[in-house]
Amino acid sequence: MRQTLVAGNWKLNGSKEVTKQLIEGILGGIGNVKNAEVAVCPPYIYVPQVAELLQASQVAWGGQNMCPQESGAYTGEISVQMLQDFGCKYVIIGHSERRALYAESDQEIAEKFVAAVDAGLIPILCVGELLEQREADETENVIAQQIKAVLDMAGIEKFAHSVIAYEPVWAIGTGKTASPQQAQDVHKFIRDMLQKENAEVAQKLQILYGGSVKPDNAKELFAKEDIDGGLIGGASLTADSFLGICTAAN
Ligand code: 13P
Repeated sequence: MRQTLVAGNWKLNGSKEVTKQLIEGILGGIGNVKNAEVAVCPPYIYVPQVAELLQASQVAWGGQNMCPQESGAYTGEISVQMLQDFGCKYVIIGHSERRALYAESDQEIAEKFVAAVDAGLIPILCVGELLEQREADETENVIAQQIKAVLDMAGIEKFAHSVIAYEPVWAIGTGKTASPQQAQDVHKFIRDMLQKENAEVAQKLQILYGGSVKPDNAKELFAKEDIDGGLIGGASLTADSFLGICTAAN
């Protein structure tokens, strides 16, 4: 059985005070969540604060991005080793906002994936189609290409140390969730694709759904066979709604 994972992606939100209150709120209710893994991914600069607040808890933390190089002349970047220095367990890779707003290519995302796994950090690899791609019946081709780019560079074995998040771009921050069946279909497609490479790796892989997950739709999504949790944006920014989703995963 795969463990359910709920990860919060805070994106560009927060302050020292907001971070303190949000983490304290999460810690206030997380004790009841015994059967799901929980993680939060704050902006880089709040990682040390989050690490300190969460260190004695069951909640893990991670980065929202990383640089595949270990050190050197890469102004503004943060390496995997730096994230690990502050106890990160996860790092989000290839989020659609990074693909769209910062022109990250499949190739760069694959390099990050390899660097993260090689260093022992668990990448949460995001894939997902645009609305026009879904409407043109291109969803499976798009997802296959995004995964194949990583598979070609990394090889299937590295997927044993990773998480995939299916985030349809049209569902992110829009309030439009993929229906549980739409999400399940893509999750199964991803698992079947990896199954052809290595059945054991594919069966153990956690595949999260992301895109307007809320406390009131989480349970139905997480009940689907191939949906192993969620990557949560907006609803991870208040303790009540994040805890509501964690409870649905429990
Ligand atoms: P929302 O939950 O705000 O739709 O964001 C999803 C997401 O992008 C998580 O990475």
